[in-house]
Amino acid sequence: MVVKKIAVLFSGSGSNLENILKKVHDKRFSTCKIEISCLISDRKNAYGIQRAKKYGLSTNIIEHKNFSSRESFDKKIVEIIKKSGAELVVLAGFMRILTSEFTQNINAINLHPSLLPLFKGANAIEESYNSGMKVGGISIHHVNEKLDGGEIITQECFKKIDNMSFEEFEKKIHALEHKLLPKTIIDILDS
Ligand code: GAR
Repeated sequence: MVVKKIAVLFSGSGSNLENILKKVHDKRFSTCKIEISCLISDRKNAYGIQRAKKYGLSTNIIEHKNFSSRESFDKKIVEIIKKSGAELVVLAGFMRILTSEFTQNINAINLHPSLLPLFKGANAIEESYNSGMKVGGISIHHVNEKLDGGEIITQECFKKIDNMSFEEFEKKIHALEHKLLPKTIIDILDS
């Protein structure tokens, strides 16, 4: 069976990474097996590093402070990804804007916790919760040089019920992410 390799990049808690490890990594689908061949974190304290260890996977820690420019940082991560043989890169809470060094060399998708093009950036959940909108949602999109700006692949939303607390809203966002991201990875690779 064909093995398709993916890389996952993250900066923080890594709940989406763990969910991919559970539902996608080392699993057989109709036409292929999918394997995580590369993990990269730009933060040495990201909890996702511990989550990956439980699955026997180590994470490349590449910190921006060790590079003189965004381009040289991106060059380094492109080199690591290429070496790993990954054909798809999943940004799962990777909180950096990538340059064309990355986007022109790598096929990547990004998970974002809002209905793009609304609420781009790092505070999407808070901004959509406080927006007065009656729905919240998530997007998965192709990655280009613009912040959360690449072509949208898929989105899902839910009704924001009256008096919903921020915690409930956030929980709902993460539950949707944990459903839609693995499905999207499988849809892209298993065809
Ligand atoms: C997720 O909610 C993801 O959508 C968001 O970071 C969180 C990571 O959670 N990404 C962005 O805001 C990208 N702009 P996790 O570390 O628990 O997977």
